[in-house]
Amino acid sequence: MMKWGFAGYGRIARKFEEGLNHIGHDIAAIASRSGASEVTEGITAYHNYDDLMNDSEVDIVYVSTTHNTHAQLAIAALEAGKHVLCEKPMATSAEDVKKMIQVAKANNRFLMEAIWSRYLPGYQKAVALAKDGTIGDALQISANFGFKMNPDAPKERLLDPSLAAGAIWDVGIYPISLAQDVFAESPSSMHVDADLSKLNVEDRCAIQLAYSGDRYAQLSCAINLNTINNAIITGTKGHIIMKDFWMCEHFTVINEEGEKIHHHPMASNGLCHEAMACQELIADGQVQSPLISWEHSIQLATIMDKAIKMARE
Ligand SMILES: NC(=O)c1ccc[n+]([C@@H]2O[C@H](COP(=O)([O-])OP(=O)(O)OC[C@H]3O[C@@H](n4cnc5c(N)ncnc54)[C@H](OP(=O)(O)O)[C@@H]3O)[C@@H](O)[C@H]2O)c1
Repeated sequence: MMKWGFAGYGRIARKFEEGLNHIGHDIAAIASRSGASEVTEGITAYHNYDDLMNDSEVDIVYVSTTHNTHAQLAIAALEAGKHVLCEKPMATSAEDVKKMIQVAKANNRFLMEAIWSRYLPGYQKAVALAKDGTIGDALQISANFGFKMNPDAPKERLLDPSLAAGAIWDVGIYPISLAQDVFAESPSSMHVDADLSKLNVEDRCAIQLAYSGDRYAQLSCAINLNTINNAIITGTKGHIIMKDFWMCEHFTVINEEGEKIHHHPMASNGLCHEAMACQELIADGQVQSPLISWEHSIQLATIMDKAIKMARE
């Protein structure tokens, strides 16, 4: 069984630790400049990231730091011969995502963007049904992911442009990823409207993507507004309604056969599903995931680069 090393020990890393504990995966070491003293007994704690990369006990590094540091830390880990699971967004530009992939290829190491939703049983099933004709041809998607944070929170990574803040990178990536999962090609055009913060990052954003065959996605994201975070996929013969689509456990299919609710509970807090996928893919000698492929990450980053530029100009 491979052993994990964590680069970063913030909010999501602690939840990921819970997920790994649930499936009995080992954590060899955790690096964090501010959180090293809080590391569970028995796990090696490092106060800097270089020591983690040099730890021969670590097989795979989970990068869960602020967005601005993902590319640099993932590349350091890959060059040190580690596999990498990197929190979303993989990097803050498509150019950096491509560099990370080149390094993974050159070192023959596994690299995956941690879009945890994609490995949840409910999300997987809903996307599979959207693509297999259950609702005819999928033509439209609407999906929102918005929450209201405290705008006065000190040093908050969601607000600080130097840490690559903003709604698109933080939560917009989920509805964009869903549209890409279902439509599976690069959008042909994009329209973006944004409510920007004082520091010129998106607090709230509406994104419309158009795809070949008159297929459209209407997406929204926010860090200053609580929205209903459902997704509706509409096809020529019906609909799939995903409740809380980014953590989907329940969805409804409405088609010619009637209305059916599907229940697919996640295990523990859900983060173990992506961890199990990493273990299985690596054991099978794979360097990328078929569900969150390198091409998917490049497309996401390309769309976000453009959307952020359009939002902020
Ligand atoms: N999958 C999910 O559901 C989910 C949910 C939340 C977040 N995320 C993603 O996970 C990542 C971390 O989010 P989080 O909410 O866990 O963040 P967080 O609680 O603020 O933790 C951020 C971590 O980044 C490290 N860091 C490295 N360089 C830093 C710098 N220059 N300034 C500040 N911190 C720095 C900090 O460690 P040091 O002690 O070394 O400073 C800290 O451990 C982000 O990419 C986010 O989008 C994913």
